[in-house]
Amino acid sequence: MKRIALLTSGGDSPGMNAAVRAVVRSGIYKGLEVYGIKRGYEGLIEGTIDEMSLSSVADIIHRGGTVLRSARSKYFMTDEGFEKGLQQLKDKGIEGLIVIGGDGSMAGACKIAKFGVPTIALPGTIDNDLGYTDFTIGFDTAVNTVLGAIGNIRDTSSSHGRVIIIEVMGRNCGDIALYAGIGGGAESILVPEIDENIDEVFERIVHGNERGKLHSIILLAEGAKIKSHELVKLIEDKIHIETRVSTLGYIQRGGTPSSADRMLASRLGVRAVELLMEGMMARAVGIRGNEIIDMDIEEALSYKRMPDIKLYEMAKILSI
Ligand code: F6P
Repeated sequence: MKRIALLTSGGDSPGMNAAVRAVVRSGIYKGLEVYGIKRGYEGLIEGTIDEMSLSSVADIIHRGGTVLRSARSKYFMTDEGFEKGLQQLKDKGIEGLIVIGGDGSMAGACKIAKFGVPTIALPGTIDNDLGYTDFTIGFDTAVNTVLGAIGNIRDTSSSHGRVIIIEVMGRNCGDIALYAGIGGGAESILVPEIDENIDEVFERIVHGNERGKLHSIILLAEGAKIKSHELVKLIEDKIHIETRVSTLGYIQRGGTPSSADRMLASRLGVRAVELLMEGMMARAVGIRGNEIIDMDIEEALSYKRMPDIKLYEMAKILSI
């Protein structure tokens, strides 16, 4: 193998740059030519593919976003778009591809491998919604960003004696809400995977107020069954406490990556290059415990992310 390429795709996540750097540096170290594809699968179709150098990834490990830029390409999902993308790889003599992104991007990687181009997928998403790996690149930073927001919001919750519902990202996965809720001492955490008894949410707020607590924070995952405006109405109708919503949105996707994300991204990037050089075809890399693992991409995508019930129960105990 002489020439490989990489792309970042889907929602950007902090740490993607550290992964890009790891792939480029370790690839060049091993004697490969490494090409960067701009704007994910969109750039692959268009052929915006340039050779990268050691210095093209200098000064990026600490930066959020992705220097390769990203896109959610609908066109690549069509037969025509896919064939164009595949043809670009062949025309440019790319013998191996590394894709950094979430489940949709990984499905694209899997399809490319089926058409004969060895492809390795790295989990890059803040959502932590991939079941085969304990953590995805960007999740830890997103949780830390939410923790910072909780600190600020708690101040105003205390000053006004209001309940504040903090809505966080994660699509159908409640991990950002769960981890940030535990770390930030939220009164309640509502996630898509678990049906919460809303009366218990009210009780925790009322009990907290009775023992002199001034603030009440609820972490609400964007995919939770109950929506923020419904929850506001229920709280104000049932326990008559003024309630506000703060939707954190894209601040969770940006920002300088945490040390955990930089380390994870670096380890996964280096392993991805090794796997290509070992002749692997369609592998997803991830982390379990503190060990870097890899498995067939299709198998990796078949793992359903299970909610951590123990953590959820623990959060309830700690918020009595
Ligand atoms: O997958 C990352 C994520 O930020 C999700 O948490 C969120 O649901 C979605 O992307 C938002 O997508 P878009 O970037 O298209 O607004």
